Amino acid sequence: MSSDLHAASFGSAAEAYQRGRPPYPAEAVAWAVPPRARRVLDLGAGTGKLTRALLDAGFDVDAVEPSPQMRDQLAVSAGQASIFEGTGESVPLPDASVDAVVCAQAWHWVDPARAVPEMARVLRPGGTLSLIWNVRDHTEPWVAALDDVLHRHTRDEIDTAPRIGGPFGDPERAEFRWRHTLDRAELQDMVASRSYVILLSEPDRRALLDSILDLLDRHGLGERFELPYVTRCTRARLR
Ligand SMILES: C[S@@+](CC[C@H](N)C(=O)[O-])C[C@H]1O[C@@H](n2cnc3c(N)ncnc32)[C@H](O)[C@@H]1O
Repeated sequence: MSSDLHAASFGSAAEAYQRGRPPYPAEAVAWAVPPRARRVLDLGAGTGKLTRALLDAGFDVDAVEPSPQMRDQLAVSAGQASIFEGTGESVPLPDASVDAVVCAQAWHWVDPARAVPEMARVLRPGGTLSLIWNVRDHTEPWVAALDDVLHRHTRDEIDTAPRIGGPFGDPERAEFRWRHTLDRAELQDMVASRSYVILLSEPDRRALLDSILDLLDRHGLGERFELPYVTRCTRARLR
């Protein structure tokens, strides 16, 4: 299955995405964006999980997102941002127009050979590019069991500490541990919003979502529970 098809799949699950995917902890956002920044580009903004946090932190936000359905959700959750159709390879903003770029859970969809120069173009000199991923903490047995179920459908590993390269300086890394409280339906939405699950046949998708409820029962988890995450961050400054 092509990577483009996977990347384009999110739109049809935009509502499940907004309900089920975790937000980003304020400490991670504070680490990713220098406090002196004013204008921040949220790249691959999706339904606005990070955009909302950037607005709440007081930044002026340009949100770039290729999927029209994701942009519809984005307009609801983060309407104060300036919202643009675009990609990491082609951002519809002028040269040297933002102080920082943040890309949450989306850098693995871009072609870095084209996106790194594009980020360097839109950033002001000395600006920062930060990449963020929420990763489930599978040191808890039920989360390891959940990952086993999900990995039956994909073995794709995301590099959450990628190289960035020139004209950016050496990357710095940080991790933030936190817990997301959610209910059973929200966990099913989190699973349903994953690109490879969106592309399953309806019977396979239904069987997978039912198996998530069985898993929660087997591990004695009730209607509401906590899912532990590690938020992995990379930050590099434009030389
Ligand atoms: C997993 S979602 C992350 C959304 C949001 N940043 C968040 O943290 O919830 C990945 C997003 O990347 C977008 N995307 C796919 N290909 C892209 C590209 N080449 N450039 C920028 N964004 C892309 C998808 O449409 C989707 O909204």
